[in-house]
Amino acid sequence: MSLASSSLCLFLFLSIFSCIKSDELQVLLTLKTALQGSNTDVLASWVSNNHVCDFTGITCNSDNFVKEIELSNQQLTGTLLFDSICQLQSLDKLSFGFNSLYGTISKELNNCTKLQYLDLGNNGFSGSFPSISSLSELRYLYLNNSGCSGVFPWASLEKMTNLISLSLGDHNFSPTPFPVEVLKLTKLNWLYLSNCSLQGPIPAEIGNLGGLISLELSANNLTGEIPTDIGKLNKLWQLELYQNRLTGQLPVGLRNLTNLQLFDVSTNFLEGNLSEVRFLTKLVSLQLFENQLSGEVPAELGQFKKLVNLSLYSNQLTGPLPKELGSWADFDFIDVSENFLTGPIPPDMCKKGTMKGLLMLQNKFTGEIPASYANCLTLERFRVSKNSLTGTVPAGIWGLPNLNIIDIELNQIEGPITKDIGNAKALAQLYAANNRLSGELPEEISEASSFVTIDLSNNQFSGKFPASIGDLKHLSTLKLQNNMFSGSIPNQTIIFFKRCSQKSKISKDVLTLIICFALGTVILLVSFACFFYLKKREKDHDPSLKEESWNMKPFRELVASEDEIIDSIKQENLIGKGGSGNVYKVMLSSGKELAVKHIWNSDTNGLKRARSTTPILGKRGGKSQEFEAEVQTLSSIRHVNVVKLNFNSKKRVLSLVDSRIPEVFKEDAVEILRIAVLCTARQPVKRPTMRIVVQMLEEADPCKLVRIVISKDGTAKKIEVKENEKINSSA
Ligand SMILES: *[C@@H]1O[C@H](CO)[C@@H](O)[C@H](O)[C@H]1NC(C)=O
Ligand SMILES: *[C@@H]1O[C@H](CO)[C@@H](O)[C@H](O)[C@H]1NC(C)=O
Ligand SMILES: *[C@@H]1O[C@H](CO)[C@@H](O)[C@H](O)[C@H]1NC(C)=O
Ligand SMILES: *[C@@H]1O[C@H](CO)[C@@H](O)[C@H](O)[C@H]1NC(C)=O
Ligand SMILES: *[C@@H]1O[C@H](CO)[C@@H](O)[C@H](O)[C@H]1NC(C)=O
Ligand SMILES: *[C@@H]1O[C@H](CO)[C@@H](O)[C@H](O)[C@H]1NC(C)=O
Ligand SMILES: *[C@@H]1O[C@H](CO)[C@@H](O)[C@H](O)[C@H]1NC(C)=O
Ligand SMILES: *[C@@H]1O[C@H](CO)[C@@H](O)[C@H](O)[C@H]1NC(C)=O
Repeated sequence: MSLASSSLCLFLFLSIFSCIKSDELQVLLTLKTALQGSNTDVLASWVSNNHVCDFTGITCNSDNFVKEIELSNQQLTGTLLFDSICQLQSLDKLSFGFNSLYGTISKELNNCTKLQYLDLGNNGFSGSFPSISSLSELRYLYLNNSGCSGVFPWASLEKMTNLISLSLGDHNFSPTPFPVEVLKLTKLNWLYLSNCSLQGPIPAEIGNLGGLISLELSANNLTGEIPTDIGKLNKLWQLELYQNRLTGQLPVGLRNLTNLQLFDVSTNFLEGNLSEVRFLTKLVSLQLFENQLSGEVPAELGQFKKLVNLSLYSNQLTGPLPKELGSWADFDFIDVSENFLTGPIPPDMCKKGTMKGLLMLQNKFTGEIPASYANCLTLERFRVSKNSLTGTVPAGIWGLPNLNIIDIELNQIEGPITKDIGNAKALAQLYAANNRLSGELPEEISEASSFVTIDLSNNQFSGKFPASIGDLKHLSTLKLQNNMFSGSIPNQTIIFFKRCSQKSKISKDVLTLIICFALGTVILLVSFACFFYLKKREKDHDPSLKEESWNMKPFRELVASEDEIIDSIKQENLIGKGGSGNVYKVMLSSGKELAVKHIWNSDTNGLKRARSTTPILGKRGGKSQEFEAEVQTLSSIRHVNVVKLNFNSKKRVLSLVDSRIPEVFKEDAVEILRIAVLCTARQPVKRPTMRIVVQMLEEADPCKLVRIVISKDGTAKKIEVKENEKINSSA
């Protein structure tokens, strides 16, 4: 009897137990169904003949109830069924961060009342967050970059007094003031509210969160001053306030943050001096760029033993940099450009052999480039342009193997470029214009095979120009004007090369070239394009014509060919000059005589000018009004025909192209000619920058030109264009 009853009890117990078990199994199998699209076999163990506690990602408590679901970063896709998940009575951790989940986060999430850890961040959810005010046991809440938007239920945070980590950043929330609910969460040590539309001031009560180790409020729209009470957060290791609209000074009290290692308040409107930073001796990274900070860089920075990254560019700092700056730790980079700093370049920033970037552009540094950097094998960027540096470039620097930019422009640096530049295999850009560099260019320059840009203009280089520079396959810009080179241009020197774009499907060996190469003290433009220009100029001495687009529109009936008119626009036919252009006498073959006014047109073929200014635009508008007015006047008085001269006739231009150039390439030649014409504008300001030229060349895409050989023998320039055998001419 007693045996029977006990076995009955056992039976009952088992059936209740397995009933609950099968509920949890059902919940998880339902969850799996909603994650069907997942391109992963992480859920392969989630099948009914396995015990739920053996499912991948599931942890059970001692009573075999599901306690944790940890499936972050598993390439999951699909939706989360919270009404189902929150039936798991013992669930205290739900972690689905870094997946590709979508759909809304439903209000049933609020039923997961035992949760201590919730991570739904870095997914593709949509809609707004539901209230989660019942989740009062939460200690870790990671919802950053979830994909949700709208208004966050800040009030839900009020009861979460156990929160240690709160991460709600990277959300396109509706703009909101700093949420006061957060200020009561005194156990927080991690607060991430960057990039989530906060606006207005940072409340002084932030000082209540004395446990904070990391505080990130960057990329919001925060205004006002950094509160002094931030100085109470003396456990802070990381403080990120960059990209806001903060004003005022670095607050007194900042000095109390002696554990700070990462400090970034860049891109704000801060002013005042760096005195408070003097005490932050454990700093590893200090980023204060793009503010209005002034005064000197505190000498103490030279003794910071852990400092590896220092970025202070675009401020108004004065005085010298500490001599021992960057000499203690594995220093990585310095950027103090665009200040008013003086004195020498600190010599020991690459002492540990780890430095990658030395950027000190646009200051008032003096003295020589320290020889120590010649050993800095890790250096990738060396930029000290626009200073007052003197002396020579220490030889080894030219040949550093990882350097991809040397920029020493606009200093008073002298001496040669040494042969070891041949070792600079990564060097793509050399900007050395406006110095006192001299000597011959070493042939070895052509071994620096990564070169894209070389600018040595306005120096005192002399001697022959290395013919082998043509070997530099990636070179697209070479500026050498205002030097003292002598001898002739190497006949094989194809100055500018660029790879053809893929679309043209021609051999990689195909080179195209161009423009604006100047040699010697005289600015001599040597290129295929300039050749055409010179040829054109033989016919046409009027500089104003070079600026024009090529299009002609008769307003009135006109019996004349474009060629007749254009050919007459030359000096000897000039009969008058006006504010807006010159007037030429044109004798047509029909015997008719015309007066043709060529109107200056300051618009340069839709060419976008970098940094174009309003006055220029205004002037353009003025010109066109002037033109219309002029047309009115001329029409009403005595000129019979008013011709608007705008050259755009392909036929006309084609006639300028060298007849030896095969027909199929003439269109390309015209494109290049257009660019050349722009490049040779009499007024330097009207010439496009090299960047624009390269851009235009890319658009012009003269890929069919295979080889152009230019010889410089008096006026007779010779051009050879060979068809690439590999081109299928129909392609
Ligand atoms: C879930 O929460 C809703 C209210 O949000 C409540 O009506 C419902 O009964 C809860 N369900 C469970 C299983 O607790
Ligand atoms: C963002 O959330 C992830 C989890 O999804 C977390 O690991 C990470 O630390 C959070 N980032 C920040 C800055 O809090
Ligand atoms: C800011 O948040 C948006 C989501 O709202 C995200 O797409 C973007 O990458 C974030 N910006 C940064 C710099 O992390
Ligand atoms: C920042 O806030 C100001 C008002 O204080 C607003 O005019 C501006 O559009 C906001 N900027 C952004 C990026 O939200
Ligand atoms: C900084 O610390 C000093 C001494 O510990 C203290 O007197 C001062 O009030 C602190 N400043 C702030 C702003 O917390
Ligand atoms: C820095 O600014 C503070 C506050 O304006 C001022 O008291 C202090 O004298 C300044 N320090 C230096 C070195 O100029
Ligand atoms: C220093 O800067 C480099 C380059 O931006 C970065 O990769 C590195 O993580 C930075 N180190 C620290 C400690 O911030
Ligand atoms: C260019 O120079 C080479 C020798 O360096 C010579 O063989 C070739 O004929 C020259 N070409 C022209 C067009 O002068």
